[in-house]
Amino acid sequence: MYPRRALLYMPGDNWKMITKSITLGVDSICMDMEDGAAVNKKAEARETIARALRELDFGQSEKLARINSVGSGWEQDDLEAVLPYRPDGIVIPKVESYEQIEWASEIIESAELKYGWKVNSMRILIGIETAKGILNLKEIASHPRLDALIFGGEDFAASIGAKRTKDATELLYARQAVVVACAAHDLQAIDIVTIDYKDSEALKAESEFGARLGFSGKQIIHPNQVAAVQAAFTPSAEEVAYAKRIVETFEASQKEGKGAYSLDGKMIDMPLLRNAQKVLARAKE
Ligand code: COA
Ligand code: MG
Repeated sequence: MYPRRALLYMPGDNWKMITKSITLGVDSICMDMEDGAAVNKKAEARETIARALRELDFGQSEKLARINSVGSGWEQDDLEAVLPYRPDGIVIPKVESYEQIEWASEIIESAELKYGWKVNSMRILIGIETAKGILNLKEIASHPRLDALIFGGEDFAASIGAKRTKDATELLYARQAVVVACAAHDLQAIDIVTIDYKDSEALKAESEFGARLGFSGKQIIHPNQVAAVQAAFTPSAEEVAYAKRIVETFEASQKEGKGAYSLDGKMIDMPLLRNAQKVLARAKE
């Protein structure tokens, strides 16, 4: 799986931004046919994304295409325009049911069979950004082609009639619901966009808070957001060293027949071991 610490969007019709994105060392590049592409640019976005997938070398970055939501009327043409050029994954926004994912998954599977690609190799990432999406998370998150849930803060606030604030208290319940669904289904959890892309302090604080909530990555919209987000979602050297010490000392204490023991004056037992293992897994991604 790609690490997906930072997932960068750009309008799918913007060739300049797409060519820029492949120079940034960003984890995932998401070329957008949905809200980033104006209504009169949808066709151009499809063609431009297809061309980018054909012609550009994305290096280590993941190449994703975001289609319009299922039911918008654009989704089928969006999907069919990009599938033959084999993106690494498809992003479906505003998902509200399992069936909407299944709809895309079946079309993707037909392409995999037609072109001789491994079945299930093309992954789906979905946007959870409406009240219904949150309510139906349990079922939605169980789809086998999913790699990640992406929480859309602005759309969600609009969906429930919340007023957006800087500390995002109004989104906390939904963000945590997404993290829990991801943990239960072994998916990556990708947090909200920091819209004020010139405010580096706000970006740092929001990224670190997202990481503390349990998110594995964050959506971004501007090149100057890449480094801070990657740093916030990469365990620090101290965190990794401490996690390694927990794993080592835990084994020794188990051999001595002790389930709980003390390390640097703090109690360590099974849940702390699990958390340490998560840190080490994330550091490796
Ligand atoms: N991806 C790739 N390159 C980008 C980029 C992005 N998302 N956003 C800006 N850039 C590039 C610009 O093209 C410019 O390149 P240059 O130096 O080679 O000329 C450089 O980064 C600096 O851009 P800047 O002038 O600071 O920004 P802007 O005023 O051109 O654009 C936004 C600001 C917010 C309009 C733009 O960042 C954007 O469209 N972001 C994506 C929005 C989006 O996709 N929304 C939908 C999903 S939430
Ligand atoms: Mg959205």
